Amino acid sequence: MSFVVTIDGPSAAGKSTTARAAAARLGFLYVDTGALYRALALKVMDTGVSPDDPAAVERCIAETRLDLSGSPEHAHVWLDGTDVSEAIRTPAVSEMASRLAAQGGVRRGLVEIQRALRERGPLVGEGRDLGTVVFPDAEVKIYLDADLDTRAHRRYRELQQRGIPMPLDEVRGELERRDGRDRERADSPLRPPEDARIVDTTGMDIVAQVEAVLAVVRANPACPPDALRRAGGPRAGPGPGTKG
Ligand code: DC
Repeated sequence: MSFVVTIDGPSAAGKSTTARAAAARLGFLYVDTGALYRALALKVMDTGVSPDDPAAVERCIAETRLDLSGSPEHAHVWLDGTDVSEAIRTPAVSEMASRLAAQGGVRRGLVEIQRALRERGPLVGEGRDLGTVVFPDAEVKIYLDADLDTRAHRRYRELQQRGIPMPLDEVRGELERRDGRDRERADSPLRPPEDARIVDTTGMDIVAQVEAVLAVVRANPACPPDALRRAGGPRAGPGPGTKG
């Protein structure tokens, strides 16, 4: 079984940037599991399937091909053979993905796809339930968190850069609502895995976040030696800014 690093946490805690950079440094695959939920959401929206009809959504999953490809810097998500990497990054898709992610049938279908990705090699995966449900035996589990204001500002800037400006209050409200849904759903709710290292990224920059994650990976005796060489630095305990 390949070496797995899971990075879970709420929206805009810095998971994507950190997971991509850590995967690139280690030479591992980068697995963006949220992209799978988003691609399914796009399909549901485009085909007019009712998100409130779990049986129809499950039929839709059975007829859908989802895949991830590319390098950490150029990751792609495929929906029925079409590259939807850009199309899934809209507020409407975020909202639909969050609604679908609360359904047990959706989670079961997508968990299978995620587990199969481990056969492709060592990976850094990011999501909400990777350490708790998808890869409970992962070698390294990280839970990234940050306070709501910090996360809202990050998402606000990200949307602005994508040319989708939205008032900060609205961004904050949407984050709160979707995180609440992720935390409260009955199936695979968002919560820190018991054996995770918790990294609070409030006030941390991206370099510090990546170093904090790599320090935890390096400290794991099962980390492949070639990855250790690529990531640089000695095997060490977690760096500054980590707790838990
Ligand atoms: O990380 P993201 O914003 O791209 O995720 C989109 C939605 O999918 C979000 O509402 C949470 C959900 N999700 C999930 O429930 N489990 C995962 N492993 C990944 C994402």
